[in-house]
Amino acid sequence: MEMLFFWAFSIVLTTACCAVYDYGAYDPTRDDFRPGTFPDGFIWSTATASYQIEGAWNVDGKGESIWDRFSHTPGKVDRGDTGDVACDSYNKYREDVQLMKNMGLKHYRFSLSWPRIFPNGTKEDGVSQDGVNYYNRLIDELIANGIAPMVTLYHWDLPQALQEKYGGWVNEALVGHYHNYATFAFQTFGDRVKYWITFNEPMIVCSLGYASGEHAPGIQDSSSVSSLRCGHTLLKAHARAWHTYNTTFRQLQRGKVGISLSLLWAEPRDPDLPADVQAANRAMQMINEWFARPIFGDGDYPNVIEDTVQKLKLSMELPELSDEDKSLIRGSADFFGVNHYSTRIAADKPSHIQTQSVLESFEMTTAPEWPRGQSDWLFAVPWGLRRLLRYIKEHYGDPDVYITENGWSDGDVQPPILEDTDRVCYYMTYIDEVLKAIEEDQVKVRAYTAWSFMDNFEWARGYTERFGLHYVNFTDPSRPRTPKQSAKFYSDIIANNGFPEGAEITKMVQDMWGKCRGSDTVKEEL
Ligand SMILES: *[C@@H]1O[C@H](CO)[C@@H](O)[C@H](O)[C@H]1NC(C)=O
Ligand SMILES: *[C@@H]1O[C@H](CO)[C@@H](O)[C@H](O)[C@H]1NC(C)=O
Ligand SMILES: *[C@@H]1O[C@H](CO)[C@@H](O)[C@H](O)[C@H]1NC(C)=O
Repeated sequence: MEMLFFWAFSIVLTTACCAVYDYGAYDPTRDDFRPGTFPDGFIWSTATASYQIEGAWNVDGKGESIWDRFSHTPGKVDRGDTGDVACDSYNKYREDVQLMKNMGLKHYRFSLSWPRIFPNGTKEDGVSQDGVNYYNRLIDELIANGIAPMVTLYHWDLPQALQEKYGGWVNEALVGHYHNYATFAFQTFGDRVKYWITFNEPMIVCSLGYASGEHAPGIQDSSSVSSLRCGHTLLKAHARAWHTYNTTFRQLQRGKVGISLSLLWAEPRDPDLPADVQAANRAMQMINEWFARPIFGDGDYPNVIEDTVQKLKLSMELPELSDEDKSLIRGSADFFGVNHYSTRIAADKPSHIQTQSVLESFEMTTAPEWPRGQSDWLFAVPWGLRRLLRYIKEHYGDPDVYITENGWSDGDVQPPILEDTDRVCYYMTYIDEVLKAIEEDQVKVRAYTAWSFMDNFEWARGYTERFGLHYVNFTDPSRPRTPKQSAKFYSDIIANNGFPEGAEITKMVQDMWGKCRGSDTVKEEL
């Protein structure tokens, strides 16, 4: 998982804006529990990512990744934490698979480490057979235990060699290199892997990696040129991989290829005030549409990005998406992957007339009654997910939606939080909103994925934030895992395929509902 958004651009105000906000004013039943079950075949999953869990950063011929380099650079990660050992899943994957099996999981989302397979970034520079064998063992172990792998090809650990040679994603040469890597993965693992995610959270890759520098490779460029170039490369790389799968592999392998975007819901402070509604629409465009609109919408960049390029006269320095690029990108996904964690309240900031900046044309706040996780950006607002899902249905042609991340962080405290009631509340309420989206709004949600299967290396926050259904003791060399209360709870949801009327899980949810919703305080609307 990662932060929700980052202001990568100094965006110039656009006038073309704003669908009508029609999500309704305060509905007193909005926060009620809705019992029921999910559609047959609904996918319940949990997720991890290679750098966050594998460890074994330099063994068996693995090449260095940009996250190895970044976390080894003093001052980049809290407490100097690194992923050198992390959860040691490289050695403990069998135990992980057993824990998943104990939970009744039938799907697992994990990522491949590109430099574990191509240590120097390209096949020509050598394939690490040990790396390939590791993923073959993991995939076979999952399948032997009845768990279908859902594989993310790129979850942020680019081979350092490609960073050094090309400057990373700012260079379009990476379209070809990524394509070769993806093709190798389809060829090597596609007989058993039927769900592929090309990129995890491209917006975070570009804005935190190439504008703020908070993430690897740590490039700081406030001009937006680097992050926009990065976005171009990722879009083209994604589309090329999808087309190759479609034309070369699909017929034989019969899998699906999508992409996971990090999306936020922005709620107008006053839904009856057109200025606030427009502010919320601008916020949604800025945060969500950079990648969603080219792939799932009409193939264009959102106005806010095009205006940035035009008005900041960046166009000389930026490659454009040609009409051919756009038509290759448009529709290049078999499902819409959604990583969602939180919501903000957006309000108009009238000063934008003078400043001419979209960024300064709205303000984003939270409500005091929203519970906050350990992560400073993570507020529990379950109904925001339902609205976001409906927005996706209405704006992007009613796609199949896979929720590929959703979850809650708590702290690295003593004693450890094994009775993680806040996380149980988060999952209970968010999953019920998914049910409402399916049943009441007819959104085609096909999958729900809890982030994360276990506590792990939370990027620049190191091990200070814990998102796991399983507790991991990072001071013990053997990295023991212990199921938390939330693992049991999620496993009960899976066993019941939701909250059937009269079931034990449903009674438990009904008992906890008021407490989880904080119903004494929350009923007062925003
Ligand atoms: C790969 O990179 C390593 C150092 O990271 C180097 O020693 C090795 O020669 C490289 N191999 C090739 C084939 O370029
Ligand atoms: C996907 O592949 C099929 C079969 O080869 C082809 O008919 C279809 O046009 C392709 N889709 C796109 C968008 O290229
Ligand atoms: C974690 O492991 C360390 C070292 O083995 C041990 O001292 C500590 O008690 C463990 N913590 C928990 C919460 O189990």
